[in-house]
Amino acid sequence: MYPFWEVPLVTSGMIIAFIASFHILPSHLATGAFWFNAYIEREAVKKDRPELYDFLSRFTLLILIFCFVIGSITGVGIWFSATVASPRGISGLIHNYVWGWATEWVFFFLEIATIYVYYYTLGRIDKESHLKLGVAYALAAWISMVIITGILGFMLTSGKWIETGGFFDGFFNQTYWPQLFVRTSMMLGIAGIYATIVASRMKNKAVGQEIVRKASLWGIAGMVFGAIFTLWYLFKLPESVKDMAFHGGLPYLKTLLCVAAIAYFIVLLYFIIFGLIRPQMAGTVTGIIILLVLFIGIGAGEGFREGARRPYIISQYMYGNQIIARDVPALGVKSEVAKYQEKGITKSLYWAKHLDLDRAEDRIKAGRMLALFLCGNCHSFEVNGIIRPLPSLLSRVGVEEAEDIAGFMDALGDYPYMPEFPGNDLDKELIGEYLATLPKGGE
Ligand code: HEC
Repeated sequence: MYPFWEVPLVTSGMIIAFIASFHILPSHLATGAFWFNAYIEREAVKKDRPELYDFLSRFTLLILIFCFVIGSITGVGIWFSATVASPRGISGLIHNYVWGWATEWVFFFLEIATIYVYYYTLGRIDKESHLKLGVAYALAAWISMVIITGILGFMLTSGKWIETGGFFDGFFNQTYWPQLFVRTSMMLGIAGIYATIVASRMKNKAVGQEIVRKASLWGIAGMVFGAIFTLWYLFKLPESVKDMAFHGGLPYLKTLLCVAAIAYFIVLLYFIIFGLIRPQMAGTVTGIIILLVLFIGIGAGEGFREGARRPYIISQYMYGNQIIARDVPALGVKSEVAKYQEKGITKSLYWAKHLDLDRAEDRIKAGRMLALFLCGNCHSFEVNGIIRPLPSLLSRVGVEEAEDIAGFMDALGDYPYMPEFPGNDLDKELIGEYLATLPKGGE
């Protein structure tokens, strides 16, 4: 066991979720923008329209600063927060996909190198070669998405990997293609919004409006295809996930999906109204408002995607509390649930070795550690907690006394969204004694 990162009120998972949702704005801009850039540059070269270069230089500068400063910081932020929030989850991913990441980083490095060369050679080298640089960047960036989608998708639906342990069985899992297509469409939509903002600020208004229109067409195509591929993604989800999201289980997943759909629709309307019908009305303020709407939509959509993997952090393999859920003979991995149910988790872990379990305070200490490790990734412990506060949930199901809570641990595995309790009777007693000390959350 690694140390536990306790984040009051919201849980550590929400910190990752917030950084990751924000990362989507720069990362999808970085991957999508240059397809549009290359399209505009091709017009400039083929039709000899030097006035378009003003847009290329402004748009590239925005990408350079926004994606390669904020995008990089939030990207590293995801690694940092995920590593401390879920060290065993990250370790599980690294053990399987370290070469996937290594390959992604090659393309990421290519992205960084080409965008700098592209920006600083704009107007300085021959036009055809410069266009090729833009296409090289667009391809490198998109390939990095092709790779990372496999690893991210693996966490949510691990496919045949659970039987074979094969790299590509997990990578090309059942939702890989829909997710890649959704992201590819979305990157064009997101790039479209930024492009309308940049184009609306150009000095040459006529050219600016022409580009706003073109970017909006790209954006509309991205949003429409994104919606179609999202339906394909939902259709491909495992039955158990569909049950949890659409037939009871976790009804708020459906709400998240609705919020994402509404945000999506508003962005589509933006492209139609401010892009196609009245491009002269597109501007920085409306653009930024739409980015905020999109941010809410992305947060909700990601909330659904991530929620759908419950109770796992790596689908079918590792529970949200970082306990390995089952045997994977192909990898020589054994279920820790079975192990701890037999031997007891408190007795197996080093941090409890110095505790004297005949003393009441030591029992509470052990119980608190157990509660943090086994519930703390998903639940906050404060009575006014924002993310699934345990005090009010325990009161809601009517278990408030130590023995009742201990007894309730047997029922955890009956919930489709919670891991079964990985411990023996002593562990149940200890966690019950600690959780009974939390303030009561009933009305
Ligand atoms: C993988 C994440 C996860 C873990 C780990 C987890 N839970 Fe939950 N738990 C949930 C979710 C999701 C809900 C649904 C709550 C909601 O409505 O948002 C829930 C609901 C509950 C409820 C309310 C059940 C009901 O019928 O309304 C209780 C009580 C609860 N959890 C206790 C615990 C305890 C105690 C632990 C640790 C031993 C734990 N949970 C571990 C995700 C988890």
